[in-house]
Amino acid sequence: MVENRASAVSLGRGFWTATAVLAVFAIAGILFWSFTPLDMVLPAVAAQPGEQIDDLLRFMAASGTALFVFVLGYLVYFAIAFRAKPSDGPDAIGVQIHDNHTLEFWWTVIPTIFVVILSIFSVKIWYEIQLAQPTNGLVAEAIGHQWYFTFRYPQINGEVTNEMHLPVNQPVVLNVTSADVIHSFWVPAFRLKADMVPGLINTIRFTPTKVGRYPIVCTEFCGTLHGMMNAEVPGANGKPNGQWLVVDTPANFEKWYHGWQIKNAHASNTLASASSGAVALAGGDVKAGQALFAQKCSACHAIGPFSQRIVGPGLEGVLHDPSHPNLVDGDPATPANAAKILQNGYTGSIGAMPNQTANGLTDKDIANLVAYLDSLK
Ligand code: CUA
Repeated sequence: MVENRASAVSLGRGFWTATAVLAVFAIAGILFWSFTPLDMVLPAVAAQPGEQIDDLLRFMAASGTALFVFVLGYLVYFAIAFRAKPSDGPDAIGVQIHDNHTLEFWWTVIPTIFVVILSIFSVKIWYEIQLAQPTNGLVAEAIGHQWYFTFRYPQINGEVTNEMHLPVNQPVVLNVTSADVIHSFWVPAFRLKADMVPGLINTIRFTPTKVGRYPIVCTEFCGTLHGMMNAEVPGANGKPNGQWLVVDTPANFEKWYHGWQIKNAHASNTLASASSGAVALAGGDVKAGQALFAQKCSACHAIGPFSQRIVGPGLEGVLHDPSHPNLVDGDPATPANAAKILQNGYTGSIGAMPNQTANGLTDKDIANLVAYLDSLK
């Protein structure tokens, strides 16, 4: 009978001893993950519902550790218990086991129960972080770009372009999306994360609970300078390049908010879109162009000689360099031709630059940038 043949196979003399030892290690692992403070590896939780995410992390780490201990432990145990004996011939093969219904039953039932428990736990936490959060909070938007974030608030015109601020203890509904490729918005101290996908709005709801400065991290590879979308990574010039989320007292938040309302009083709320005709360059403002260059171009272009490449070439004297009379697309280095590249983007032998829409540039922005580039001799 098949059953008899299978059950005649020995598990080895030390099997139950090995199982007991592995159980001790597994229980130690479970206790470790249940009681170790997670701020050893993660920043302290600074928002509701960060604790629930930590609970799920503990559960998955504990069960993963137990699973790892048993799988690896048995692998090592069986490799030793059933190793080839010196008396075995060169063609000896191990005992062939099949049709052991008891084994098959348990290796199907145990993982099934585990996966069901994990799904129930995950759905419960998903409900708590998505649906059970207040929906009447401050609505803000975060938009991913290559390679920075911008933020929008009700009653602030245009975009906030450096730090994101939020008031402490006030519910927030944060809508995230992208202007170009897929990014992912993560504040480790809040535990919450959402993909920023062009054409799609993802929402996260939370309540910051501690005043402080928290790094924002892009967690989706989004191009050569993806690493610069991390507030803790220093930039090419040694200065921090990424952006922070600042949780303020209500009074400080009001002050910051009001400051941006004034600063952006004349900013446009319409998104930049590619214009069809040539951009009017008259009245371009060098200072505004310089500020915009630092914000939108300096991740890829140095103010230095052509050969000083970051992603694209250095642009110092780009319109006044006798050794480079032509732009990268082969056209003469004139303000109008530089504006054309800013407007339409560039794809060619030395790389690619997104167009005006993808870079979020208005016609006025292009005029200012060209005025600034023209001023660099
Ligand atoms: Cu943005 Cu990675």
